[in-house]
This record gives sequence, structure tokens and C-alpha cells, in this order.
Amino acid sequence: MNVVDSERIVDLLEGIGYAQVDAAEKADLVLLNTCSVRDKAERKVYGHLGRFKPIKDRRPELIIGVGGCVAQQEGEKMLETVPYLDLVFGTHNIHRLPELVLQAEEKRRGSVTDFLDRETRLNLFPHRSVRDNVTRFVTVMQGCDNFCSYCIVPYVRGREVSRPSGEIKAEIEGLVAQGVREVTLLGQNVNSYGLKEDGELSFAELLNEVNQVAGLERLRFATSHPKDMTDELINCFGRLDKLCKHIHLPVQSGSDRILELMNRGYTAADYLRKVEGLKSVCPEIRLTTDIIVGFPGETEDDFLATLEMVEMVRYADAFTFLYSPRSGTKAAELQDDQSSVLKQERFERLCALQNRIGEEIWQQDLDKVLPVLVEGESKQGDGQLFGRTTWNRIVNFVGEKELIGMTVPVKIVKVFRNSNLGELI
Ligand code: 5AD
Ligand code: SF4
Repeated sequence: MNVVDSERIVDLLEGIGYAQVDAAEKADLVLLNTCSVRDKAERKVYGHLGRFKPIKDRRPELIIGVGGCVAQQEGEKMLETVPYLDLVFGTHNIHRLPELVLQAEEKRRGSVTDFLDRETRLNLFPHRSVRDNVTRFVTVMQGCDNFCSYCIVPYVRGREVSRPSGEIKAEIEGLVAQGVREVTLLGQNVNSYGLKEDGELSFAELLNEVNQVAGLERLRFATSHPKDMTDELINCFGRLDKLCKHIHLPVQSGSDRILELMNRGYTAADYLRKVEGLKSVCPEIRLTTDIIVGFPGETEDDFLATLEMVEMVRYADAFTFLYSPRSGTKAAELQDDQSSVLKQERFERLCALQNRIGEEIWQQDLDKVLPVLVEGESKQGDGQLFGRTTWNRIVNFVGEKELIGMTVPVKIVKVFRNSNLGELI
């Protein structure tokens, strides 16, 4: 979500004569696009801002701004606490950025964090930047109405709105005409796409439509809430040839008691039924997930239920988080008497289990020849390219730049923790 917002920010700033540089030291304008999902991310914002202060001391004309979820939450207060900050823009106000920057150029500080109404937000959706990427995100909905008890997102991103399916399809057709080969449909909870709009397609129907776009090779989506995952959507993984065989399906916990306290709207058994459905329509599918450790009142039995879930599903990868109280959320009011040592110890047990399972899964790719969509030159250098397998796993291999944008057969010769090394066949 933040990557997409950052792209939009770049496009808007290019419109008023700015261009990107690769270091804050060289910039006339520095913007931080922020995340407040956990306390650590939030604290980092202040750390980063601190690093820009000496630059501003040397060059007072440097403009510094903050956007995204922390900006939404803190608003004008940030201008008070950070005296060298020039502008603050909230999650619904990216379009106001050019105006704020022009004001700051005239030494006027400003903050805009209003939430907008549905109609205005729908009108702001279209995003037609021209980039030569092979793969792009396409936002299909924004906001979240789920109010999981630990989560700040509904408060900082606002209510759900879904973009008209015709507009989404037209955007994807336009991207494909520019050379894009893969799109990832993006939303806080894509499964509730269209449900609140009269006569709109369901998310499964939208996938069907996008799958038919000529010239598109691959289709992905993120993120899916298990409670809204319909059989129709599960069946897409058996039916749609462009849909990649990977799904990110955050489970958060394997304990029914904790899931209830989290307000997730499903039980462990419900979740497992959906996973079985996915594996039966698409036996090669690989799942990834998000898990929170140390939710208030989590007992050893609750935690063991999470470990059991990880064993049963066999995730290819998991993003594991220590619970972080977010003020204003329901969970922040719950009594939390677990020691941080205990939480950390559980966190490490979970990571050890997941690392073992993930390693077993990724090792299955060794010596196999897999189709890889080539995205660009690898960060590794040495004439290496990088691309991804259907499971969203990065593969680095030596090849000519002309291959960028093509799907090529690559033999996996080495499996690392987060990527594979391959040889072009
Ligand atoms: N503490 C820890 N993790 C959180 N997440 C969301 N809110 C919190 C929180 N308060 C995690 C969830 C979510 C992911 C994006 O971040 O696992 O799926
Ligand atoms: Fe947060 Fe839950 Fe919405 Fe995901 S579905 S953004 S975890 S409230």
C-alpha cells in the first residue's frame, strides 16, 4: 500500500518540477511515507527525521515532509514536536501534496489530514503513471471496516471503498499496452471488494475479468481476509490460468479464544477448511501468512495452537510480529500480564518452527526448472537478472537484459533463505 502511495507521490511531484535523487543529502525535498501498524515502525519515523535535521541545519531551504499513517494519526501535532518539519499530509490527502510543497517553498508550514467522503475518494483513485516496470500494483479498494481489535489501520486509512471494476480493467489494459506483464490487485481486504457497491462484481468475478486481459501473463492479489474468502474465490486457483499459485492468508493466531479476542471472525477450523479447499483445487499452491505473538492474555495453550496451525498448513513463509499495543484500538484496553521475556521466547520458538518448514518447502525447488518472469537487473550485480517464480520467490540468474519482461525457464541451483540462485536453460 505504501509503495503504491509513494509512486503516486513521485508522480505528483514530477508534475510540479521535482525529480527523484538517490540520497537525502542531494535533495531539495525529503518526504517520509510512514507506517503506524506497530510501535517500532512509528518510532523509526522520528529517528529518520532526526537524521535529516543536520542536513536542514546546513541547508535551511531543504523542505521536509511526512505522509502516511503516522501523519494521519499525529496531524498538526507533528509540526509542534518537530520544529524543522515543513509539511504533514494524511492518507486521504496525497493529492494535496503539490499545494503543500509550493506553500513550503514560500516558508509556510502546513498540515492536511482530513478524511474524505466516498465520492471524492472514488474520483481520486485513477492513477496513470508511466513506468516501464514488468510488474505493477493496481489498487482495487482502500480502507478497512474489519476493526480487528489490535489494528490501527481502520483508524488511519478510513472506511472501505471499492473502485469500479470497469476502471480497474481499463487501467490494467493500459498497463499491459505499456509492457506490464504481471499485476497485483491491492487492497486492505480484497475479499470484500465490491460487496458494498450496488451491482458491482465480486472479487472472484473481478479476477475472472482481469484473467481475460490479453497480453497479461500473471495475476496476484493481496491481502485476503480468511473470513471473507468464498468458495468462488478458492475455485479461482483451480480455474484461472494467469493466477499465480501463491496466496498470502494472514492467520494471526491458531487459538479460537485469541481469534475471538482479536475479532477476526473465524475459528482455526474455519481457516483450515479454506486452506484445504485451496490445496484441493490447486495442489501446488503455497501459502504465506502473518502471525502475532503475545496478544494480551495469550496462554501457553493458545500459543501451542498457533504452532499446531503452522505445522498443519505448512506455510512457505510467515511474517511474525510481537504484539504491539496501538492506542485507540480495543486490544490496547485489555489486561496484558505476560512478561516480555516470555513473549520473546515464544516468538523465537515460532520462528524456529517456521524456518524449518519454510526451508523444507523451498528446498523442493532445488534442481527443478521453473518458469521465471524476469523483472529486471538483480541487486547482486555481476550481469545477473532477477525474476520470480509463481510462488513469488525471487530467483537471481545470469542473463541478457533483453530477457526482461519475458518468462523464461530457469534451473534452481541454490536455495537461500530469501531467494534462489538459478541458471537460465
Ligand atoms: N501488533 C503486532 N502486529 C500487528 N499487525 C497489525 N497490527 C499489529 C499490532 N498492533 C500485523 C498483523 C497484520 C500485519 C500487517 O501486521 O499480523 O496482518
Ligand atoms: Fe487491520 Fe484486520 Fe483490517 Fe487487516 S483486516 S487491516 S488486520 S483491521
